[in-house]
Amino acid sequence: DIERRVDSIMKLMTLKEKIGQTVLYTTEHDVTGPVIDKNYLNYLKSGGVGALFNATGSAFTRKLQKIAVEETRLGIPLIFGYDVIHGYKTIFPIPMGEASSWDLDLIQESARIAALEASVEGLHWTFAPMVDIARDPRWGRIAEGAGEDTYLCTRVSEARVKGFQGESLNNQETILACAKHYAAYGAAQAGRDYHTVDISKNTLHNVYLPPFEALAKAGVATMMTSFNEINGIPATGNHYLLRDILREQWNFDGFVVTDYTSINEMVHHGYAENLKHAGELAMNAGVDMDLQGGVYLEHMEASIREGKISEERLDEAVKAILKMKFKLGLFDDPYKYCQEEKEKAVILNQEHLEAARDVARKSMVLLKNDNAILPLNKEQKIALVGPLANDEYHIIGNWVAQGDRNGTAVSVVEGFKEKSIDFNYAKGCNIENELVDFSKAISIAKEADVVVMVMGESERMSGEAASRTSIKLPAIQRSFINEINKLNKPLVLVLMNGRPLDLSDEVRQVDAILETWFPGTSGGHAIADVLFGDYNPSGKLTVTFPRTIGQIPIHYNMKNTGRPADIEGANERYTSKYIDAPNSPLFPFGYGLSYTKFEYGKPELSNNELTADQPISIKTKITNIGERMGEEVVQLYVRDRFGSITRPVKELKGFQKITLEKGESKVVTFTLSVDDLKFFDDHLDFVNEAGEYDLFVAGSSDHEFTNSFSLVLK
Ligand code: IFM
Repeated sequence: DIERRVDSIMKLMTLKEKIGQTVLYTTEHDVTGPVIDKNYLNYLKSGGVGALFNATGSAFTRKLQKIAVEETRLGIPLIFGYDVIHGYKTIFPIPMGEASSWDLDLIQESARIAALEASVEGLHWTFAPMVDIARDPRWGRIAEGAGEDTYLCTRVSEARVKGFQGESLNNQETILACAKHYAAYGAAQAGRDYHTVDISKNTLHNVYLPPFEALAKAGVATMMTSFNEINGIPATGNHYLLRDILREQWNFDGFVVTDYTSINEMVHHGYAENLKHAGELAMNAGVDMDLQGGVYLEHMEASIREGKISEERLDEAVKAILKMKFKLGLFDDPYKYCQEEKEKAVILNQEHLEAARDVARKSMVLLKNDNAILPLNKEQKIALVGPLANDEYHIIGNWVAQGDRNGTAVSVVEGFKEKSIDFNYAKGCNIENELVDFSKAISIAKEADVVVMVMGESERMSGEAASRTSIKLPAIQRSFINEINKLNKPLVLVLMNGRPLDLSDEVRQVDAILETWFPGTSGGHAIADVLFGDYNPSGKLTVTFPRTIGQIPIHYNMKNTGRPADIEGANERYTSKYIDAPNSPLFPFGYGLSYTKFEYGKPELSNNELTADQPISIKTKITNIGERMGEEVVQLYVRDRFGSITRPVKELKGFQKITLEKGESKVVTFTLSVDDLKFFDDHLDFVNEAGEYDLFVAGSSDHEFTNSFSLVLK
C-alpha cells in the first residue's frame, strides 16, 4: 500500500520537487557544524526542502510543518531530525558510559525514553546510534559509541535501535534511528577527528562493518555517511560501501543521509573537482539526502539534464524518503508528533529521572578499591573536593539535545546531601586552569577521615571535534591531587570523562577510583548511591585504558606478533615490546570491580567438536563469595589458534549480566555455533575454518584460556 501511495505522489512531482525531497537543512537554533544557511525558510516555501533538523518543540515544529503542508504546491510533510544521542531532556550517561553497563534491556529502555521525550516535541528522527568501533582514546567521539569491540557494539547498537524505533514506526512514541557514521569513522589516523582512514579491507569487514550490517538487517530506518575517506575514497562518494555492500549485499531498505557537508568536503579531500561533481559522486554512489550541503539543491537539476545523474536514481532516493514519511504516518497526520499537552506529562517526569539514576549507577566502573575503602561509611567525616563535585553543567556530558545545564541535573554535592551525611565541600581547582578555594580544600581534607575528589574532563573535551593529544587529567588537577596526596588521607577519585584516561599516576596515589563517565541528569544521586553502597557497582570497561598514550593503538583483541613478549626461551631484548612500559594496559576491556567477589568454576563443554549440526554449549558456575549481593557481567572469549589470515589473540563471543545474592551460585550457559566463528578471509568471503580453538569465561578480558575445542567441517 505504501509503495502504491508513494508512486501516486511521485507521478505528480516535478523534477524540482523531487530534488527538494533530498534536501535537509538545519535551522539556526542549534549549531552542529561549520556552515549555517539561514535561507532554509525560503527554500522550504519553494518546495526545496524535504526535512529539517535542529528544530525542537511542538510549537516550532508545528509552525514549520504548516509551511510545508499549506504553502508548498504538493503539501508534502517534513521529517524533523535531531541529535538525540543520550537522552532528550532527561539525559542518560554518555553512550560509552551506558554501554559499560553491558545491560541491553537497560540500554533499550533509555533509548525508548529518549524517543518518547523527543517525539512529543514534534521530532521524528534521531541521528543515533553512533555504531563506530572506537579504539583510539585520543578521538573525542569515542564517547558516543559502544567502545572497541565489534560484538559488544553490535549488541548494544541493536538495543538502541529497538529502543528508538520500537515495534512500529507509525507509533507516535517512536522515532527513526540512524546508524552512523558509515563507515570506519572511528579509525581516523592519530585519533584526529575527520582525518584520513587507511585500513585493510579485511579490518573494514571484520571489525568496522558488522554493526552496520546487523542494523541494516534489523531494519534501521536510515544510515549516515561518515566524513572520512577510506583507502582513498571518501565514504560519501563510496560506491563500494553504499551500493555494493549496503544495498546489494545487505538489502538496506531505508535512506542514506550525509553527515553535514560531507558532499562538499569531497572537494577538499581532492576527490571531486567541484561541488557539482561532488553531488554527482554522492548521488551516484547512493546518498539519498544531502544534509546541509546545499549541493543537491543547487546542482542536481543541471547534473540530471546533462545525464550525469539518471532520473531513475533520483527517483530511487525520493521513493526511499517518501516511504519513510508514510511509515511515520505523516501523510495521514503531519502534526501527529506535535503533542503540546503530552510534552508536560512526559518530559523529565519522575519515572524518567529514576530511570536515568538507575542507568547511571549501572554504567559506572569501579577501577580500584584497595582495602575495601568503598563503600564509604556514612559515619565517616568526608571532605568532598574537586572541580566537578558541585557541577550541574558538565555532568550531563557532551551533545545533550535539550538537556538543561543550569539547574536540572543533580550534582554530587546534592547527591551527598540526600544521604544525610556529614561532609564538607570545597572546589580546590577548576577543570583546566586555576586553583579555586585551594586552602579551604586542603583544610577540610586535613580534618577528614576520607577525601573524595571529583575530577575529570570538561564536557567540551570529548565528543565531536574534541580530539586530544594527551589523555591525562588536566595539569591543574594533577597538581591538586599531588597536594591532597601529601596529607596521607584515604583518597577516593571519582572521574567524569568522555574517553579512557591515562591514570598511571593517579592509580598509585589514590585508594579507590570510580569511573562515572558523564552520568547525566540524575548523576549526583547515582554517584552517591554507589559511593555509599546503596548500589553495588557492576559496570565493565568497553574500552581499554592504556598506561600511556604511547601504547596506542591498544585494544584487547589485537593480533599477535611473530615475536610475542612472553615467548619462552627467546632472548628478551628481541621480542615485541617497549623498553619503557609493559605491553599490557592499565585496565583491560571487560574489567570492573564490585563490592563483592565472584568465583568462576572451570567451564564445562557439552562436546569437544563443534560442527554445523552440533553447537557447543558452555556451562560455567559462578558463585558470589563476598559479603553482599552483586551483579556480574559474565564474558565468553574465544581464540582461533591459526587461520588463512592471522586471527585476534581473543574475541568476545558472548556475555550475560547476572545477579547473585551473597553465597549464591548460578550456572551460566553460552552456546557457540559455527556462525559465531565465521570471519572474512583474504578474499572477503565470510567463512568458517576448521581447526583448534581456545576459550575462557571470566569477568574480564584479561584471563588465561581454560578449555579447547575443534571446529570440524564436514
Ligand atoms: O549527526 C551529526 C553527526 O554525528 C556529526 N555532524 C553533524 C550531524 C548533525 O548534527
